[in-house]
Amino acid sequence: DARSRDDLRCPIVVIMGHVDTGKTKLLDKIRKTNVQDNEAGGITQQIGATYFEKKTLETQTARLNETEKVELTVPGMLVIDTPGHESFTNLRSRGSSLCDVAILVVDLMHGLEQQTIESLTMLRKRGVPFVVALNKVDRCYAWKTCKDSPIRDALKEQEEGTISEFRSRSTNAKVQLQEQGVNSNLYWEMGDEDWTNSDFIPLVPTSAITGEGVQDILLLLCQIAQRKIWKQLMWCANLQCTVLEVKAIDGLGMTVDILVVNGYLREGDKAVFCTLDGPVVTEIRGLLTPPPSREMRVKADYIHHKEVKGALGVKVIGNNLEKVMAGTSVLVVGPNDEEEDIKAEVMSD
Ligand code: GTP
Ligand code: MG
Ligand code: NA
Repeated sequence: DARSRDDLRCPIVVIMGHVDTGKTKLLDKIRKTNVQDNEAGGITQQIGATYFEKKTLETQTARLNETEKVELTVPGMLVIDTPGHESFTNLRSRGSSLCDVAILVVDLMHGLEQQTIESLTMLRKRGVPFVVALNKVDRCYAWKTCKDSPIRDALKEQEEGTISEFRSRSTNAKVQLQEQGVNSNLYWEMGDEDWTNSDFIPLVPTSAITGEGVQDILLLLCQIAQRKIWKQLMWCANLQCTVLEVKAIDGLGMTVDILVVNGYLREGDKAVFCTLDGPVVTEIRGLLTPPPSREMRVKADYIHHKEVKGALGVKVIGNNLEKVMAGTSVLVVGPNDEEEDIKAEVMSD
């Protein structure tokens, strides 16, 4: 087994939470995009995927890391956006089932809401480690913007009245989490013993608009990946992938967005998909990704690949993909495999 701590794959991070808590805006902040502005009614209706390169993570955490001095060993991060609207429980469930770590976004002004609790329940059931973003911190009374700065630096700049509102709202969130059986604390107030306790949840105040705390949440996610779940992130050559969405794209026909968790996928591979009519074997004709830091949901200048390596979200082009079912696995028929065995395996889960 050639797997090692020095060869980690990207952690898959899912963003979950109640509608309009700022999940997509947080991602827009990190991407420097405006995906949210172009969503119908400002509501996310699909699962999205964005890949961040290691150098992006380094740049976006640079100021905080002057003091924290965390060496980044993850090769990047793949972030999955999910809808918070109550009608998309299935997409939240899918998101929570395929991630390594999660951000549960709470609107600091509202506290815990219905889909916050639903998401929390899903994450705990699956044993997914997560952090809670207390978002919209900029809406505390008379907040002084400290654009993109680490949250503790920003809090130091606030007047006493602002701090006291912040304190009472974050304590309220903590109490509400406690009512759900979750111990939590502002992440910089956690003791060493809390870090080793996997049931203790770090809280990170953020603003998706002015950017305070975004450095903190990124660095925290890297630390959780590298310190807590690195074993699960050791890269391995066995292909592991799941279908995220199936959709027609102008000029490309029917495409399947898949999440390659581990292993390689190559153009020309004979892939086996689950469809409503049973297993379908098809040759992969194209593998496309958006550029780094761009959302796969948004039609872009896709990059064509001969080969992709997990973890990555990719758009697959091929024939007979119309009836592929989201949430199912994809397998490839290798040189020593019997096609019939692989077909049976794909349909078995
Ligand atoms: P769904 O995907 O539909 O569940 O919503 P979402 O959680 O992705 O929230 P979205 O990014 O759509 O933001 C909802 C609204 O809140 C938008 O009007 C944002 O501009 C606003 N918003 C998001 N984050 C912040 C923040 O940190 N501060 C302030 N002031 N407004 C925010
Ligand atoms: Mg959204
Ligand atoms: Na929204």
